[in-house]
Amino acid sequence: MSSHDIKQLVEQLTLEEKASLCSGADFWHTKAVERLGIEEWMMADGPHGLRQQPRGGDHLGITGSNPATCFPSASALASSWDRSLAAQLGEALGVEARKAELSVVLGPGINIKRSPLCGRNFEYFSEDPLLAGELATSYVNALQAQSVGTSLKHFAANNQEHRRMSVNVSVDPRTLRELYLSAFERVVKKAQPWTVMCSYNRLYGEYCSQHPWLLTEVLRNEWGFSGVVVSDWGAVDDRVAGVAAGLELEMPGGNDRDGLIVKAVREGELDEAVLNTAVERLLGLYFKTRQATEKLDFSPDQHHQVARRIAADSMVLLKNHQEVLPLEEGSEVAVIGEFAKRPRYQGGGSSHVNAYRVESLLEALDAEGASYRYAQGFDIDSDSVNEQLFQQALELAKSAEKVVLYLGLPDRYESEGYDRDHLNLPDNQIALLKALSEVNQQIIVVLANGAPVVMPWIQQAAAVLESHLGGQAVGAAVADVLFGKRNPSGKLSESYPATLEQTPCFDHFATPARPNNSDHVAYAEGLMVGYRYYDTHQLEPLFPFGFGLSYTRFDYANLSLSASRIGPQDTLTVAFDVTNSGKRAGSEVVQLYLADQSGEISVPVHQLRGFDKVALEAGETQRVELTLEKRDFAYFDVDHNEWRMPKGTFEVQIAASSRDIRLTGTVESLGDEVLPTIGRNALVGDLMANEVTAQALRQAMAATFEQNPKLKRMFGESSDDEMMQAMGRYLPLRALVSFSEGAFGESDLEVLLKHLTQAVSNHHKG
Ligand code: BGC
Repeated sequence: MSSHDIKQLVEQLTLEEKASLCSGADFWHTKAVERLGIEEWMMADGPHGLRQQPRGGDHLGITGSNPATCFPSASALASSWDRSLAAQLGEALGVEARKAELSVVLGPGINIKRSPLCGRNFEYFSEDPLLAGELATSYVNALQAQSVGTSLKHFAANNQEHRRMSVNVSVDPRTLRELYLSAFERVVKKAQPWTVMCSYNRLYGEYCSQHPWLLTEVLRNEWGFSGVVVSDWGAVDDRVAGVAAGLELEMPGGNDRDGLIVKAVREGELDEAVLNTAVERLLGLYFKTRQATEKLDFSPDQHHQVARRIAADSMVLLKNHQEVLPLEEGSEVAVIGEFAKRPRYQGGGSSHVNAYRVESLLEALDAEGASYRYAQGFDIDSDSVNEQLFQQALELAKSAEKVVLYLGLPDRYESEGYDRDHLNLPDNQIALLKALSEVNQQIIVVLANGAPVVMPWIQQAAAVLESHLGGQAVGAAVADVLFGKRNPSGKLSESYPATLEQTPCFDHFATPARPNNSDHVAYAEGLMVGYRYYDTHQLEPLFPFGFGLSYTRFDYANLSLSASRIGPQDTLTVAFDVTNSGKRAGSEVVQLYLADQSGEISVPVHQLRGFDKVALEAGETQRVELTLEKRDFAYFDVDHNEWRMPKGTFEVQIAASSRDIRLTGTVESLGDEVLPTIGRNALVGDLMANEVTAQALRQAMAATFEQNPKLKRMFGESSDDEMMQAMGRYLPLRALVSFSEGAFGESDLEVLLKHLTQAVSNHHKG
């Protein structure tokens, strides 16, 4: 349907009908307008499996949902650093959605992990916007290729669950752009999600569901978003303000707010043209949802295998003392821990999937015919030691060669809706590990958790394998990695702190134990989130961002840069060799960080600007190429509201983790030419730092300098007086009138401003 046809259709709708299309009929369906053949369509969560509820459902899954494949959650997927796996997940979800006649899947969630305490971090990708944005782009493109829409969420600055529906986030605008909006920007520009879901919280005092700057100025006008903005479930405060700001669809529906829209139009508070535009967008989406007519089918067993592959390739081997892993095929193993029988494979809340099947580690071992002995060890539902289970486990460990101890966070420890208080495993699990390690030196800890835990116990474990929330096939995937069928090739998509107190926003992140009962949340740490903080402050986290061990080893060599200087229009190709110099096939996640050494503006010590995952046979070498462009070098210039490339030296770092830099090179950035803004409040220092304006200033001020040497010194024109020069640097031009003792008046200022403006304009004309 062309936009012309859609406009004509909108003309046929009554005001009431138009308003009715701006909210759902119930929890999951939109409204129909039967008279004109407009049918309802359905959406469902997301993001790592479908949660399609029968009519009359609720939004937290209390009434259950139809069976679907439960894939690994986003925190797992992100640790694969593998765009193709993200695409496989997206495609599989798209196919399941088509079969279920769903039009939009509510995901992915790409909010930045500001603190590891956020209860919903398992549903998000990373602390880094490039990693989050790239994987989400692959996911969205692959899912939408099945003619099903996505909903990129939660837009924006929804980085905690504590008081999530009322907090007001204040974050400096540069940090907002560079960290919290940047992943959204990437996905919108590279994948055009059919919908974007606004967040619950407020930003700069305004609810995101009625934020004109966010929903229209940035999302549509700057980034070119052409889809529909849907509210998070229950996020609407003022519906009319929402329509005016760019929120087209309120969910869930079934309330009387459509009437408010009608009334506002009748009373002239809301321009009908604005409503018409919203309805055009909604109908545009509606016709997209009608494009694919034939149903797709799939095999749940095959999707189970997709889930297994993603889970295996997302796991991160954190420790492997004396190569206690992999286990030898055919060797007997002792398995301890209730998670081996009752896996924790997904998180709680709106993303909770009713999985087709769940394969535990014990079931996987049975299926492989592996020989093992099992002890439960502890009760997942309690934090207290169960003496009987404890003793049984101890006996087993005494007689075993190696012990696989499956630990993790119980459901109640992390979920949508609330944040964690601490980063510890339950006490009974820690006590068990300690006791087992006293009778057996080869304890292999497998972890099931949606977000980092601290590991004061790490010396007691010979190996630690992070399996995240690995989806319904997690047991088989853990077995694949333990026995070396798959080489562990995930790397951490977020830093693992040594202690909670070490985390960057420890002082300004409220928890139930350290509540902030005000709704004001200040992101006072600014850009210093995750590795940006640890690396800049030279602090040792427990495990750095991008870290992960392997059963084989990789070497890096022969770095080359396609140019030694780069301007804003250029691209830079960075190439290097990676060799698998071990004895097994495996994949390596290679990372490119840029360190801005220009000194133009304060920046984290380095930032991730590229990555790839390279599969290599033993002994094989591959040349990897990563391309950088202006934006990778740029910071957000708040004064000019644009991305700006600084002038100066950048170090290119090729790394195996943010703390393991293997190769370095340098490139000179020519920078963007941005002249200072001319006005009475322009600072002397800024004007003198730019050749064009400095020259114009000198010219215009020559006569005044003769009369008033003090002013000359303030401009740095007599080099002997650093103090005067330093003081002058931050003077606005208007202050010259105050300090020149009559030598420079308001009329002189006017002339000076004209002269400067002219110089700038001559320069632009070239
Ligand atoms: C969540 C969304 C979810 C929606 C519908 C909300 O509570 O924040 O992520 O898509 O419910 O279940």
